[in-house]
Amino acid sequence: MTHKVLVLPGDGIGPEIVTESAKILQYLQQEYGLDIALDYGLLGGCAVDALGAPYPDETRQKARAADAILLGAVGGPKWEMLERPLRPERGLLAIRADLELFANLRPAILYPQLAAASSLKPELVADLDLLIVRELNGDIYFGQPRGIRTLENGEREGFNTMLYRESEIERIARAAFEAARKRHRKVCSVDKANVLETSELWREVVERVARDYPDVALSHQYVDNAAMQLVRAPKQFDVIVTGNLFGDILSDCAAMLTGSIGMLPSASLDAKGKGLYEPIHGSAPDIAGKGAANPLATILSAAMLLRYSLNEPEHAARIEQAVGRVLDQGLRTLDIMAEGMTPVGTQAMGDAVVAAMVGD
Ligand code: IPM
Ligand code: MG
Repeated sequence: MTHKVLVLPGDGIGPEIVTESAKILQYLQQEYGLDIALDYGLLGGCAVDALGAPYPDETRQKARAADAILLGAVGGPKWEMLERPLRPERGLLAIRADLELFANLRPAILYPQLAAASSLKPELVADLDLLIVRELNGDIYFGQPRGIRTLENGEREGFNTMLYRESEIERIARAAFEAARKRHRKVCSVDKANVLETSELWREVVERVARDYPDVALSHQYVDNAAMQLVRAPKQFDVIVTGNLFGDILSDCAAMLTGSIGMLPSASLDAKGKGLYEPIHGSAPDIAGKGAANPLATILSAAMLLRYSLNEPEHAARIEQAVGRVLDQGLRTLDIMAEGMTPVGTQAMGDAVVAAMVGD
């Protein structure tokens, strides 16, 4: 059966990095018989420009029909002045909600070749391998009511609602425990239960789910402490499960521990394993069009796509091994450049990954 993959290049550096990733999928198709059909669509600012909406109907239909989606990045200064419903970020939130992609997996892995690029001391991050499981369909991101209203005295006030249902907490907790079973069997649930009722319920439900996973050790941390622990002793973590807002913040922090946010892929999965795969970094408008962006996070996102949604672990491993090899060869884009290494651009890095797969 041919796997249908929808490719959404997006904005900024998105098209450049996605081109390299698509090149690798096409190579696997030609040389190793990966049965895949790529289709393309618009999401984000480019979709606003061409079709007047950040998640247009055309894209929605293609996304619903696809087995998996590969995304570059969305957003940029060009669209920041638009009214909120037309902003590129809205397109991203809309596709996550429309496809019920509730489980966001954000691994933070330190490549030994890049240990020097971390802002933490090497001994704190050596062999770092943690996974943030971020809930992606609920919380203050989607809770109603929300808005900006004018009070009687003429002063304005902004308001949002942090909201989680038991069923939403339960399904993300299960996703985290299942992921932990394939790793080191430790889950740390992060909340703010000392202040927020939403978190009080979160903690209660996570503990209930934990009873079904007696082989996995559960701990809890308040989000402020978790932020501190991440930069103090990140290797204490295996799987971190948390809500949408806390997960957004902690995953940027965790990504930086590894030295380059330009290396990290992510998956956003529904209940059946269909997913959207994207690099953790954004659209980097400052370097867009210059051929300087690091395509490895997107290339590794394609590997995650093969593993999680298409059940093609061998092809995924080919990509991951090839990425390790190009790092061993000393090839570096600007974001991970270090003394004595060879600087390369986006396209040369993609070509090097293909070359590293030859004969594999
Ligand atoms: C992320 C991003 C998005 C989020 C933005 C672009 C809406 O920061 O994927 O982490 O907040 O979820
Ligand atoms: Mg974020």
